[in-house]
Amino acid sequence: LRPVGIIGTGKYVPERILSNADLEKMVDTTDEWIVTRTGMKERRIAADDQMTSDLAYEASVQALTAAGITAEQLDLIIVTTVTPDMPFPSTACIVQERLGAKHAAAFDLSAACAGFIYGLATASNYIATGMYKYVLVIGAETLSRITDYTDRNTCILFGDGAGAAVLGPVEEGYGIQSFELGADGTGAELLKIEVGGSRCLTAVDSSEEKRPFIYMNGREVFKFAVRIMGSAAEQALAKAGKSKEDIDLFIPHQANMRIIQSALERLKLPEEKCVINLPNYANTSAASIPLALAEAVEQGRLKRGDTVVLVGFGGGLTWGSTVLTW
Ligand code: ACO
Repeated sequence: LRPVGIIGTGKYVPERILSNADLEKMVDTTDEWIVTRTGMKERRIAADDQMTSDLAYEASVQALTAAGITAEQLDLIIVTTVTPDMPFPSTACIVQERLGAKHAAAFDLSAACAGFIYGLATASNYIATGMYKYVLVIGAETLSRITDYTDRNTCILFGDGAGAAVLGPVEEGYGIQSFELGADGTGAELLKIEVGGSRCLTAVDSSEEKRPFIYMNGREVFKFAVRIMGSAAEQALAKAGKSKEDIDLFIPHQANMRIIQSALERLKLPEEKCVINLPNYANTSAASIPLALAEAVEQGRLKRGDTVVLVGFGGGLTWGSTVLTW
C-alpha cells in the first residue's frame, strides 16, 4: 500500500453572523448561559440562496489551489453531510459539475459529525491501493436549515460552513498513519432528524405533524462524547505506534468546549496544542474538523513532520479518529 496524505485544505463560511445577543432576542437564553455551558459566541448562517453544495464548492476551490492540482485531475469526490441539497442526486455530484471535475466519480457519505473522518478513511483506501490518485473529501453543512429556532436546547449549538481536503500519494513516512472508526446504532434515537426519509418523507405524514429539525438528547450525547473523544484518539494513536506525548496538534469536533476540555484532560494536552474555533462557528457537524484543519494550516500551526490527531463523534452514533504525520 502506498502512503496517502492530505495535500491541500480549504474552507468557507457564510458572511452572516448569528451572535449570542441575537439568540437572546429569539429564545429564552443568555450570552452567559451559552458561553459557560458551550463556549460558543457566534455562528455563521448561510444566505437564503446558499445551499450546502455552494459552501462545499468554495472550500473545494481553495483546497484544489492549495494542493496545486486541477479539478480535472480528481478521481473521486466524497461529500460528508447531514444537510445535502436534496435526497438525490448527491451533493457530491452537484459539486462535481460546478468544479468541472469531469473525470471524478462522486458520492455522499453519511456519518453525521464523524463524517469527515469516515470520508478520509474511505478516500485513503482508494489511493493506498492504487485505484485512484487524487480524492477530494468535503465536510459541508447548512445546519441552520434543520435547526428549530424556537428550541433553546438546540438552536444555540449549530452553524453553517464547509471544509475540504485533497488527498493524494505522499512520501514514505508521511501522511495518514492510522484510523479508528466506530458506530453504535443502539444510540440512533439520541440525535436525529425524523423527516426526509422512508420513515417519514414529509413534515406532514398521515395526519401527524413531524418536525423537520434536529432532535437531540443533549445530556446523553454529552456523556457519550466525553467517553468517546479520548478513547477514539487513544486507539488511533496506539494503532499508529504513537503515544499522547507525541501529539503536536489535536483537532477535535467542535461540539462543546466542555467536551473538548475533558478530552484534553484525558490526553494530558495543554490547550495550546488544540484547535478551538467553536466560539466563532459553533458546531458545524461534518464541516467542523476540516474547517478547523484548514484554519490551522492557514495560521501556520502545522509544520512538516508534526503528529496531528483528528477526532469526531456524532449521530448514529458514530465516531472516528485519525493520526497523521504532516
Ligand atoms: N439557555 C438557557 N437555558 C437553557 C438553554 C439555553 N440555551 N438550553 C437549555 N437550558 C436549560 C435547560 O432547559 C435546563 O433547565 P432545567 O434544569 O430547568 O430543565 C438547564 O438549562 C440545564 O440543561 P442541561 O441539558 O443539563 O444543560 P447542559 O449543561 O447539559 O448543557 C448542552 C446542554 C449544551 C446541550 C449539552 O448537553 C451538550 O453540549 N450536549 C452535547 C451536544 C452535542 O455535542 N451535540 C451534537 C453532537 S453531534 C453533532 O454535532 C450533530
